[in-house]
Amino acid sequence: MAPGRRHDAAAIDRFRDAYAHNKAFWDEVTPIHAASDYYRLDQFRRGEDVLHDFIVEEVGDVSGLSMLHLQCHFGLDTLNWARKGAEVTGVDISGASIERARELSTDLNIPASFVQANVLKMGDRFDAAFDRVFTSIGALCWIGDLEKWGRAIARALKPGGVFYIAEFHPVMDTLQQSMPITESSAAYPGYPYFGDGIPLRFDPEGDDSDYAEASFTSEETTFEWFHPISEVIGALIDAGLVLERFLEHPFVTYKARQGMVQSEDGLWRLPPGVVPLPLMFSITTAKPNA
Ligand SMILES: C[S@@+](CC[C@H](N)C(=O)[O-])C[C@H]1O[C@@H](n2cnc3c(N)ncnc32)[C@H](O)[C@@H]1O
Repeated sequence: MAPGRRHDAAAIDRFRDAYAHNKAFWDEVTPIHAASDYYRLDQFRRGEDVLHDFIVEEVGDVSGLSMLHLQCHFGLDTLNWARKGAEVTGVDISGASIERARELSTDLNIPASFVQANVLKMGDRFDAAFDRVFTSIGALCWIGDLEKWGRAIARALKPGGVFYIAEFHPVMDTLQQSMPITESSAAYPGYPYFGDGIPLRFDPEGDDSDYAEASFTSEETTFEWFHPISEVIGALIDAGLVLERFLEHPFVTYKARQGMVQSEDGLWRLPPGVVPLPLMFSITTAKPNA
């Protein structure tokens, strides 16, 4: 997710405002994303799947299951899971995203519920309500407190329920963005691996492009957190969930760095000749039966 420039978030008041800034960014970018080729809304309207094959395969059959989709954006994946037979509730901090998700649900006649909330402030409203909790692709960098995040997931799951996440690998997030990665020596870190709880601040300066719509540059400052894999898995285990599967993938779902090449499966990889690195990961954890 991280754009090209970084600034340390020096002032604590900026840190407190981080979620408000991020929310404003996501409100602004929602209509841009809904209209972008990246999200393939038109294909979805025509009945095609927009979920990535590896995610569908790893999550498995969801028909007849209740599912909570955290950070659902404008509800595209949420509605795709609903089309696959799940009874889905999507949660997102952005009011514009939730509004667009509800419109889509009505337009496409795919029933689903959508709730505007910060994932860290869902309280007890979803306690033990879901067979599945799902989140993916560009979610964790917006979450400052993974301990709270893990606890929120654990309490939303029914006993025996399963949590799944597919996400950018923190090793990929470290990769520099100032030059194309066409040889291994260019795959060097430009961003932190170990976050320290303080988000990095990204200011709009006019030459960054959006991951879904290259012609769009936001006016909003955003704040993003860096979490090592150990912190993600640790938060889920500490919340009482049991690790069932941890996978690392040499591909990513968009051209996250210059020099990456797209394969026939539509996924992006480091080019031949560059030492393969983990670009995405996925985790499956289960809540023990009481
Ligand atoms: C990259 S998008 C969602 C990922 C999804 N896979 C997608 O591509 O549509 C990140 C989403 O997280 C939401 N978000 C950011 N911080 C959040 C928070 N603290 N609580 C809930 N939603 C949040 C944003 O509004 C945005 O819709």
